[in-house]
Amino acid sequence: MKLDVVLGLQWGDEGKGKIVDVLAGRYPVVARFQGGPNAGHSLHFDGKSFVLRSVPSGIFRDDATNIVGNGVVLDPITFQGECENIAEKTGIPVTERIVIAKKAHLILPTHRLLDAANEAAMGKGKIGSTLKGIGPTYTDKISRHGLRVGDILAPDFADRYAKLQNRHITLLSQMGFECDPHAEDEAFMKAVEYIRQFKLVDCEYHVNKLLKDNDILAEGAQGSMLDIDYGSYPFVTSSTTSCSGACVGLGVSPHKIGHVYGIFKAYCTRVGSGPFPTELFDETGEELRRIGHEFGAVTGRPRRCGWLDLVALKYAVMISGVTDLIMMKSDCLDTFETIKVCTSYIVDGQPSDQWPFDTFANIEPVYTEFKGWHTDLTHCRTEEELPKEFRDYIAFMEQYLEVPIKIISVGPDREATIMR
Ligand code: IMO
Ligand code: MG
Repeated sequence: MKLDVVLGLQWGDEGKGKIVDVLAGRYPVVARFQGGPNAGHSLHFDGKSFVLRSVPSGIFRDDATNIVGNGVVLDPITFQGECENIAEKTGIPVTERIVIAKKAHLILPTHRLLDAANEAAMGKGKIGSTLKGIGPTYTDKISRHGLRVGDILAPDFADRYAKLQNRHITLLSQMGFECDPHAEDEAFMKAVEYIRQFKLVDCEYHVNKLLKDNDILAEGAQGSMLDIDYGSYPFVTSSTTSCSGACVGLGVSPHKIGHVYGIFKAYCTRVGSGPFPTELFDETGEELRRIGHEFGAVTGRPRRCGWLDLVALKYAVMISGVTDLIMMKSDCLDTFETIKVCTSYIVDGQPSDQWPFDTFANIEPVYTEFKGWHTDLTHCRTEEELPKEFRDYIAFMEQYLEVPIKIISVGPDREATIMR
């Protein structure tokens, strides 16, 4: 059987939660493989809404097993809050539906403080991190100081915690960052107790065993342009958000990968700092933000908005070998007279069709314009109902990207989805 992967192809917030929830009906297992509570995956169904941070988006499907993979960084405090909220509102037995990789790294409260200290020290050059401790936790993982979920089973876990915390306290004081590093010690230990109720697994054995009889859906977080290697470095997150991250983050061989679903919005958004060639600073940008409700699900920050960037999108499609494209929020463009898509760049005065190495290069977008469709797409459920102008627009994108658009989302609800 296969590991199919769902990835965000832009700067995050493409609508991964909705699509995983829609696709989860076909998959008995859903697994997160990277990132942590910097993610905010929104799901809407039966008049209810949820924002998931570390819990995989298959949680609301009765028969799905959900895996928090070893590539994930887990904040016990946030995770407990998230799980308790789901259990309270839905009665779902979360401890039975989620298994956690022992090799996933733990986010300590002091990792969050270090995140804040790092950002404060960078001043104007800051990344615009969600401040959930992601960068410092992956830093400890790579520098071989981290604590892993499986460590909570060790009798000397409290000592190991104190040892890493002391390391952080030294760093925080060297940076002159004023804070109480012990403020959340009690909450952390309580949350660790809570996590002990879950099945903690050797993820690589668990996943490969499940793959013998089941297709698994791997749920990416963030987006390709935030990938630690291929994103707009240093304005990125600290994990591999592209397809290969699913192999490393779950312990699965690349030849087990099946479909690679790439999700993009019909326009672009970005939260935090960094290059965004098609960003709009005018009324059109405001309009996109208003219609698309583009405010961060994790931080509440207004998202930067702009036209669709096909150069960046084609780059992301290439890196991950996307086989099926999924277009989200098409309905948000319903009222525009003219719709623009960026089809090439002028980089420091030179024409180019590549995402540039230099993050600080001056990138001017070159646009192709399309006539708006002036139709409410939210009621369309079949391809035949879609207006001609919209179908022309889709056909252009498929030709440019050389990958078929298989799913079109026309509203936030599970039902507002057209399968092609
Ligand atoms: P989902 O899964 C949008 C951005 C932050 C910041 C940069 C680094 O909901 O798409 P970090 O907290 O990782 O240190 O932040 O990455 N970022 C996201 N933007 N959606 C996300 O996740 C994001 N996760 C991180 O805004 O610019
Ligand atoms: Mg988000």
